[in-house]
Amino acid sequence: MDFKSIKYYLIASVLVVSCATPKKGSFSAKTKTLDQKVDSLLSIMTLDEKIGQLNQYNGFWEITGPAPKDGQAAKKYNDLKNGLVGSMLNVKGVKDVYAIQKIAVEQTRLGIPLLFGFDVIHGHKTISPIPLAEAASWDLDAIKKSAQVGAEEAAAEGINWTFAPMVDISRDARWGRVMEGAGEDTYLGSKIAAARVNGFQGDLSTNKNILACAKHFAGYAFAEAGRDYNTVMVSDEVLHNVILPPFKASVDAGVKTFMNSFNELNGVPATGSKLLQRDILKKNWNFDGFVVSDWGSIIEMIPHGYAKNSKHAAEIAIQAGSDMDMESYAYVEHLSALVKEGKVSENLINDAARRILKVKFELGLFDNPYKYCDEAHEKATVGKQEFHDAVLDVAKKSIVLLKNENNLLPLAQSGKKVALIGALATDKTSPLGSWRIAAQDNTAVSVLEGMQQYKNNQLTYVKGADLTKGRTQFVWETHINTTDTSGFAEAIDVAKKADVVVMVLGEHGLQTGEGRSRTDLGLPGVQQELLEAIYKVNKNIVLVLNNGRPLAIPWAAENIPAIVEAWHLGTESGNAIAQVLYGDYNPSGKLPMTFPRNVAQVPIYYNYKNTGRPTMNEPESVFWSHYSDEKNTPLFAFGHGLSYSKFEYSDLKLSTTTLAQGGNINVTVSLKNNSAVAGKEVVQLYIRDIIGSTTRPVKELKGFEMVALQPNETKTITFTITEEMLAFYTANNKWETEAGDFKVFVGGSSDKTIEANFEFIKTN
Ligand code: BGC
Repeated sequence: MDFKSIKYYLIASVLVVSCATPKKGSFSAKTKTLDQKVDSLLSIMTLDEKIGQLNQYNGFWEITGPAPKDGQAAKKYNDLKNGLVGSMLNVKGVKDVYAIQKIAVEQTRLGIPLLFGFDVIHGHKTISPIPLAEAASWDLDAIKKSAQVGAEEAAAEGINWTFAPMVDISRDARWGRVMEGAGEDTYLGSKIAAARVNGFQGDLSTNKNILACAKHFAGYAFAEAGRDYNTVMVSDEVLHNVILPPFKASVDAGVKTFMNSFNELNGVPATGSKLLQRDILKKNWNFDGFVVSDWGSIIEMIPHGYAKNSKHAAEIAIQAGSDMDMESYAYVEHLSALVKEGKVSENLINDAARRILKVKFELGLFDNPYKYCDEAHEKATVGKQEFHDAVLDVAKKSIVLLKNENNLLPLAQSGKKVALIGALATDKTSPLGSWRIAAQDNTAVSVLEGMQQYKNNQLTYVKGADLTKGRTQFVWETHINTTDTSGFAEAIDVAKKADVVVMVLGEHGLQTGEGRSRTDLGLPGVQQELLEAIYKVNKNIVLVLNNGRPLAIPWAAENIPAIVEAWHLGTESGNAIAQVLYGDYNPSGKLPMTFPRNVAQVPIYYNYKNTGRPTMNEPESVFWSHYSDEKNTPLFAFGHGLSYSKFEYSDLKLSTTTLAQGGNINVTVSLKNNSAVAGKEVVQLYIRDIIGSTTRPVKELKGFEMVALQPNETKTITFTITEEMLAFYTANNKWETEAGDFKVFVGGSSDKTIEANFEFIKTN
């Protein structure tokens, strides 16, 4: 090891290790040694060097080219050389990462290695389905595997930290970032958060795993009216029962970093929130990793009306517990003065720097700062076939069969005339979804390419209409084709002659994601018109949806016989869709988020409160909680998803109807596959707490199990209800249980369940 960075660390840590005598019954020798290593390093750092660890810059110059001389890039470059940078983001590729790491290691006084962060959200170069799609698989192993693949590929490109998973529970489909989360349910979201953290971080001693980051802490998805970055006002009850549990699950899974969020939460910007960062995260949950701000969120406290200027913002953020400043320049510019003026205690800087350094130690960067910098490994790893296999697997599992009248699907594999219509059917970029910054455009398998594998049908493709006006990059709503229907005639002609028409419609991958809130949840542009025009000449339509959020498509739901929710499925998109359409894969996905009938219903979610007027008392009653022009019910409910098998639920039985503390109830249900097709079903368990010290939702997911059944096979499925499952954040401001009556529901969707009752008795 000839790394210069190590010289100071070695002197310090060797001393520490040799004189460290672990006390029995206190910390383990290993933990103590790690803490002592960090402390030794801290003790030889200047204040500015410690502040430098708290500073993160975006990639800033032609890294392998000449050093920048002027402007912002030169400032960053000089800061880097002076040890005033702790981490970089958006630098990728071994060559570039190595070049920057080398400056940190060889040219700074202490040679402390950098963290390299990147948004590896759904794959890196080989793209996985968007997270919302993966959540529809309800398959925690597949989701974990997908995170692992993303981590391994990114790690091979020098990256050692992903800004994922996003664990924001989201109930509002207008918000463009619903694509990045696990949907609306806290229980499912918590399980998925843990699976993703484990997938990314796995074994950090290898060069295949990277640091994960639970984001955005907290409340970001509850932006008023679904408008990104907007104000968030939520009750303590919603915060603790709905929003926080997936973050807690991430901490429990060992996540090393957190990212705070852009939004204000009940009047305080999250970046400046002591309640969130110091009290809840670091104190109550004992989180010992570090918190990075979101991009510029420290100085965004100025327009929020919470900080007077950048210096004030830095003071607020560090006191609140934001450890690292992403691109605000506020810490690097002002913290030193703030400490000298006595406005910020040096202990706070020490605490933040200690957290960051500890993570660097845990990642092994002090043993080998170039751990992720191996060009041969990069070459051999990026785009591996194994990655394609994994993303294809999870893509198939993510598809949700929303409707299948008269068994129109699966399609016969031979002897049919199939018309394929829609601009998205040949698009090789859109399926890559929103967060695919490392992927090349045009690298996804299109639906046309996927369907062309089935050669015994006569397949004719016709576009029908453009979705965008020639744009593949930065597709905003203004780039959507809302006028040109000149291709309709040709499409109608082809559809007339076909036995079946497959129409691929929906959102472009870049119409979703950050900053892409929409007020219209229908099919963008002229696609609805195209769908109706084709329907007039051929009713045998299979609608394949590509989208990053729930859509409101009531006309299609009523008229189109088969609807396949295929989201933005990533690199292997077309192969996954074709295999489902042709029955080589039997779909098992279930919606992780409610589909509304009408955008005005949002936020709409299955675990709503009953209200005092939940139903109509008399026919034509007016004064109950409803719309006069729309139903209350969703178009497709949370948990909904069909299969080519036909599943039937019966015989729901409880082992006892009284749950005592420390006891449990076994819930059994019989599941039959009443079809000739083998398939998988996600069996869902919901509970309702009838009376609470604060009102409780009509139903809450508390368990699920993926069950595989052969044709005509029946299985008995068992869930166990324990006291822990009944706990919630009560009127006492505590996570606890309350005695009383409960309902239990089991089924294949939140709106199709069978139910039973039990009582929970508390003795203390
Ligand atoms: C997003 C974060 C992301 C960061 C870095 C921000 O705009 O909100 O989720 O990780 O940029 O790219």
